[in-house]
Amino acid sequence: MPPLRSYIDPFQDVPSGFDSTFNPYLEKVKEDAKASVPRVLYGPYLRGKKSHWLDWFHHSRSMLPTAQGKLIVEIGSHDGAVMCSLAAKSPHHCFVGLDITLKRVHKAAMLAKEQGLANVAFAYANARAMSHLFAAEEIHSILIFFPDPWQKKMRQRKHRLLDASFCKVLYGLLQPKGSLWFKTDAQEYFLSSDDLFKKVGFITETHNKNLSGDCISTFEKRFRAQNKKIFQQHYQKL
Ligand SMILES: C[S@@+](CC[C@H](N)C(=O)[O-])C[C@H]1O[C@@H](n2cnc3c(N)ncnc32)[C@H](O)[C@@H]1O
Repeated sequence: MPPLRSYIDPFQDVPSGFDSTFNPYLEKVKEDAKASVPRVLYGPYLRGKKSHWLDWFHHSRSMLPTAQGKLIVEIGSHDGAVMCSLAAKSPHHCFVGLDITLKRVHKAAMLAKEQGLANVAFAYANARAMSHLFAAEEIHSILIFFPDPWQKKMRQRKHRLLDASFCKVLYGLLQPKGSLWFKTDAQEYFLSSDDLFKKVGFITETHNKNLSGDCISTFEKRFRAQNKKIFQQHYQKL
């Protein structure tokens, strides 16, 4: 498990670098975290979830219809559109969206609240700390749609989320036969990530056996409206 560096530590109470005078969403997220729906997690509320996500969804706060569900995680859940649409379609599965922006976590949570969804949670957390939040083989499906491509200059590429060690972490967190769905508008990022995913052991799939239908995110809508080409691939863990 990669070490937890302070700048990505999801368990910190008040995220470092934030002042609620300048970022009013810190208080909003803290308030959200006390309510039963939407389900919002940050800092201390993320402790103890590792290995217990499905139990938390099923036994804490509001009960879900069955304990047979699968755990599906989106990295960079933004406005929550993808997680909420999937959660509404699959009420027996449990969905967790991770984002590093308080405003987005709050807005996504408001969308879940409007739709009365108890099977989706949004967490203020850096995906780089995922192995501290989820246990090995705990996740059934991971979605990564349009991560920041950092492509304007070569030297920016070191900021990309998808590198060899992170792809290895993702592989380890997925259950056998678990799936990963990656979309981007950046062809070079797509090709280099495809190479990394295959190197850690993923095989490619023509469709996602674990999730029904397509999921069009807000960025995808924006890129489609600009007639940009979208690159996507489904991967499966053996
Ligand atoms: C380009 S947007 C794409 C949003 C959404 N997936 C979509 O397709 O519409 C990237 C999102 O990832 C989030 N993000 C960036 N780095 C992240 C990280 N390390 N962990 C979690 N979320 C991250 C950003 O805050 C932003 O909401």
